[in-house]
Amino acid sequence: MSRAIAALYRVFYDGFLSRLPEPTAVALGQTALRLLPLDRLSLFHVADPRLETRLAGVRLPNPLILAAMYYDTRILRRAMGLGFGAVTSKSITPGPRPGHPRPNLARVQTPAGPGLVNCNGFQNPGLHAFRDAIATLPHRVPLIVSVAGESVEDYVTLVQGVAPFADLIEFNISSPNTRLVYTWSQRPRELRALLVALGAASPKPLIIKLSPDFADANESQIIPAALEAGVRVVNYGNARRAEDPRLSQGAGGLSGPELYPATLANVRRTRSRFGAELEIIATGGVDAPDKALDLLDGGANAVGYFTGFITRGPILARLILERLLERRSAA
Ligand SMILES: Cc1cc2nc3c(=O)[nH]c(=O)nc-3n(C[C@H](O)[C@H](O)[C@H](O)COP(=O)(O)O)c2cc1C
Repeated sequence: MSRAIAALYRVFYDGFLSRLPEPTAVALGQTALRLLPLDRLSLFHVADPRLETRLAGVRLPNPLILAAMYYDTRILRRAMGLGFGAVTSKSITPGPRPGHPRPNLARVQTPAGPGLVNCNGFQNPGLHAFRDAIATLPHRVPLIVSVAGESVEDYVTLVQGVAPFADLIEFNISSPNTRLVYTWSQRPRELRALLVALGAASPKPLIIKLSPDFADANESQIIPAALEAGVRVVNYGNARRAEDPRLSQGAGGLSGPELYPATLANVRRTRSRFGAELEIIATGGVDAPDKALDLLDGGANAVGYFTGFITRGPILARLILERLLERRSAA
């Protein structure tokens, strides 16, 4: 049944959604997510204690995470019922941001399959409005709130602001389309000071979201600094920086299956280098069950994805969880 739905979604995506202009497709997809009560369908619910996992002590019913992209709480609420073990918000900034002008999203057809390139520029309502919106959001599964700042003070304000309503807080230091956030990886000394200031003091566990563009700095400086500061979870990682003249900024973040080989290599290397003291969310290019399973086998504690949610549809979570259960039954 789930495979038939996945095949139908492929026909819908390839034959219709992927042919609409990007802004129309985004508007249609988000309206459908807001209006259709997909989360009430038992089709998307795979509950089994063998799937449970923990991140920094927080229990997730399964190891799949919707990666950062949405801030609308109507969508976050739905996504919590679509099979994910946790849902991440879009990166929230201290003040509201309109984001970069259009075109800020384009499709890319790579040899590995369909992907996206975006220069969204953190369109979000800002800390105060977002806080008010999530204050009443029921957590069917844990909510990871992603935050993005340009100074230590920004992150202190953001962490204090969202902590009462988040189960975990993800530090985005890696979005490639906003210069001051992306360059945190090039300022490891300042980043260390930030992690020390917040690592132990944050009332909720922190995740640091890394850029796949800075593997050396991540592994030689950033992860060791995070561990010293008491931050045990990394999300490896964000979109990869790519030039694209179709975008208003001339460049943006590439997401989708083209990222997958690097995600797998990064996870394997990081696991063997840092051992069990580090918890890893593997994000980047997951659009099929085998890829998620290989990342878990390679040392990931959990697997995140966003582009696969669009190109393969909400049914992808179920397909992955079924495969995982088959595997665990056989073990
Ligand atoms: C349109 C769009 C918006 C995104 N916004 C954010 C964001 O606000 N914060 C963040 O950390 N990552 C953001 N991402 C990156 C994703 O969370 C994810 O890390 C990246 O797309 C790689 O995973 P994927 O290949 O499964 O999409 C965004 C990605 C896309 C395509």
